[in-house]
Parts: sequence; structure tokens; C-alpha cells
Amino acid sequence: MTLALASRRATDALSEERPEPVRDFASDLLAALGTTPRSIAPKYFYDRDGSKLFDQICDLPEYYPTRTELQILKDRAGEIAAHMGPNAELVEFGAGSLTKVRLLLDAMQSPKRYIPIDISGEHLESAASVLKADYPLLQVKPVVADYTQAFMLPAALPDSGQRVGFFPGSTIGNFTPPEAVQFLRMAATVLHGGALLVGADLVKDPTVLHAAYSDAQGVTAAFNLNLLARANRELGADFDLAQFAHSAFYNAPLKRIEMHLMSRVRQVVHVCGWRFTFEEGETLHTENSHKFTVDGLRALAIQAGFTPGPVWTDAQQLFSVHWLNAPK
Ligand code: TRP
Repeated sequence: MTLALASRRATDALSEERPEPVRDFASDLLAALGTTPRSIAPKYFYDRDGSKLFDQICDLPEYYPTRTELQILKDRAGEIAAHMGPNAELVEFGAGSLTKVRLLLDAMQSPKRYIPIDISGEHLESAASVLKADYPLLQVKPVVADYTQAFMLPAALPDSGQRVGFFPGSTIGNFTPPEAVQFLRMAATVLHGGALLVGADLVKDPTVLHAAYSDAQGVTAAFNLNLLARANRELGADFDLAQFAHSAFYNAPLKRIEMHLMSRVRQVVHVCGWRFTFEEGETLHTENSHKFTVDGLRALAIQAGFTPGPVWTDAQQLFSVHWLNAPK
């Protein structure tokens, strides 16, 4: 590729005419590829295809977290709803397909309003209209936003009860610990005087963890590789997906599953007119999934100003759901 072409395409990809999420993806991917070791924020997984693949992950036999968390919520819905009280307003961070929240809504006493926040607009709108049809008395107000950045929430309704945040799926584990505290501080501000219900995956035998993040059908691999497919689609990059392998392993000292895309060979790729070399075995680090002890999660919450309340787990201690009271 000539230099002239390279610079023209680079400007083009970052130009003001592109919608903001695409510009963010372009600049964050270029920044990721330009640093060693290479790593990118996991939020870019969730375009339309990525969100669909993610829903498939949640149904995999090896992927225990979704199923286990649903069971905890099902078993404890009455108790959780009692903590919420009447007319509560639920705010879900990273709402996805809106399945878990139904267990809460079904148990709550006259829920006032539900505000799902998600980065994938299309996915959110379609899921929200299904939910609206099933709960005609509930106000549903979807907000398309990246909750790791500043965003706006509608003001509380005049006669509503407490505002309760819902952050399931151990998404909190996809942050580094300092980022998790930063998220929790933001949530404490948004929910002041209310509470946050958080799902957190627990530390366990690495064999179980490995299976959950490298399933036999290769859905997690497809989800990981979709990041490169998305770069090809949206940014005109030329990643050869067959030349990258999904790699997931447990980093025991840091208590986290790491997901990487590993170059199978030495190769050159082009993104927005820039040229990058991958050595054989070199990786792009795409995600962390931290595992917690109950006390470890509570310590993060305390750092962010919350007062931890009850914790619910399953009999096998695979997963935990925490009630955290937000400061006034
Ligand atoms: N937050 C969940 C977890 O870390 C779900 C998740 C996010 C996930 N990204 C993923 C699961 C990638 C598998 C692969 O487990």
C-alpha cells in the first residue's frame, strides 16, 4: 500500500462524517495495535452479530454463569423484591436481551419504571419492545449509551420508590479492579439513596473456568473473532480470520480468565490505511473476566462508598449476587 493511500484512508476512517461509535472503534483499535502488548476494551465485541453470539454463549452447556445466576435470582426473587420495596425503578447496566430482569419484575411490588442501558442500540430496541408487550403497566425507557463514559439518565419519577441498579452477568469482572471501583463510584452517584444488585462470578477450579471460556462448539471463539470481522466490516480492515486463534486461559495470580486473539503465523494486517505486523504467537488481548471471592467483591464496593447488604449464592458456590446499599 502506498503512503498516500495510507494517509488518505486513515483520515477518512476517523473523519467527522462517521458516526461516533465507528470513530471510537477506529481510534481505539489503532491505539491498541500500536502498543505492546496489544489490548482493546471489550465493549467493541457488542455489535449486532456480537450481541447475538453473546446470547448463544449464555446458553452453552459449559457456560455455567448465566444459568447459575438465573437460578439464584429465581430462588431469591421474593427476598430481593422485598429489599426493593414498592414502586421501585430499576436501572440495568448493559441490558442485552432483557431476560434476567423478568425474574425481578415478576416478583416486584408494582415496579414503576425500567431503564435498560446498552451500547448495542438495535439489540436494545428490539428487546425493549418485546418486554413492553409483556409488561403493559411498566414504563420502559431504553437508553443507548456506553455506561463506562458519561451518560444521561431520566430524572426519577415523582411518586417512585427507590432506584435500584442491576448489573448481572459478572460484567463487573470484565473491568480491571480500579475500573470496577470507578464503575461502582459512578453507580453510587446515579443510585444515591438506592441500591445496586450485582452478579459476580466466584473463584473456582480452573478446569471449570477453562471449559466455560473455550466451549466445544467454538461459539466463544466465534464471538472473540467477531471483533476482527467487525473491523473488516466497519473499518475496511483486512484481518484474515483463519490466521487468528481464540485463546482463553486462567491467570491465577490475577484471578482472571484472559481472552486473546493469537496470530497463528507472522503476518501483516491493514487497518484504516495503517500497516501492522503480528509475530507468530503474538496476541491482541480482548477481554478479562475476573473471578471474585465474596469478601473481595464487598471490599471493592466499600471502596466505592457502598454499604454491602445480603449476598446470595448457589449451593455449589459457583456464583454470587450482592445487594449493595448506595450512599445518600
Ligand atoms: N461478563 C461475563 C463473563 O465474563 C460474560 C462475558 C463477557 C463473556 N464477555 C465474554 C463470556 C466473552 C465469554 C466470552 O463471563
